[in-house]
Amino acid sequence: MSALPQEASSAIPGATLRPLSDVMGAEVTGLDLTRPFDVATRDAVYAAFVRYHLLVFRDQKLDKPQQIAFTEQFGTLEEHTARNRGDADYPLVHEVSNLGEDGRPTGVVNSTLWHTDKSFRPKPSMATILHAIILPPDGGDTVFANMIAAYEALPDDRKNALAEARVIHSWELSRENVDRPLTEQEKRESPSMNHMLVRTHPDSARQCMFLGMHASHLDGLPLREGRARIEDLEAHATDARFQYRHTWSPGDLLMWDNRCLLHHADPNFDAARHPRLMHRTCLRGATPDGSVPFDIPEGFADS
Ligand code: OGA
Ligand code: MN
Repeated sequence: MSALPQEASSAIPGATLRPLSDVMGAEVTGLDLTRPFDVATRDAVYAAFVRYHLLVFRDQKLDKPQQIAFTEQFGTLEEHTARNRGDADYPLVHEVSNLGEDGRPTGVVNSTLWHTDKSFRPKPSMATILHAIILPPDGGDTVFANMIAAYEALPDDRKNALAEARVIHSWELSRENVDRPLTEQEKRESPSMNHMLVRTHPDSARQCMFLGMHASHLDGLPLREGRARIEDLEAHATDARFQYRHTWSPGDLLMWDNRCLLHHADPNFDAARHPRLMHRTCLRGATPDGSVPFDIPEGFADS
């Protein structure tokens, strides 16, 4: 089964585009991302991004201002949460790493659960740009799952049953934070959202599932039951047949579509020994159709 449209491959002026798998991804070579695109190139890159969901630009070396300039060509940069803010000099470039304050590997890898970036926000991220700065000798992959393919693989009766389903995306309620209550500032920065489970991609008009680790529970059910339903849906959505695993090469810069992919870091390297450092910028998306804020009812976390 292929989730990608079958028409002839779209071209980017001056670049070579090579599909990476049947479910998503295309490698782009021959472009220098430190230089601004002309309009035709920018539009072609965006079209390829919508079509393949994940672009892998090879052989790049961007500093932080250059990564910001590259990102801004496609929209508005997203601010990061207080915990994730980058250096004071470039707060819009988040340093994703396993390094501690002293610059040494800690053994801890973040973002190892399936998610889509900032899905708890009223305007979840449209795209994330992740640029490899330091890679471990091997491993440290990033794994992606295609939520269009996952939706399309559902039988029609399941699609119908889920047509009106809603999901609470909540940083406060989502599982990985159970042991780490948010600070008041983090709570203010991240009120919970109620999004449709099935969203229509604003560019391709294709339908896709919107889930991930910030998805707390299915709306209208007690927390435990709603959470169990989300786990079932996520198990389907992240099945191996919808996945692409990215094995990083030096110089890679990835740009992926958060509206229709889930992703996670694979800690398949010795994170106590080897440094892994990425520079990350995010583009703000639009509010998905039908999304509304969700106020967590008193005592709900115990239901
Ligand atoms: C991210 C993320 C995964 C990785 O930057 O949003 O989830 O492999 N990164 O580091
Ligand atoms: Mn992420």
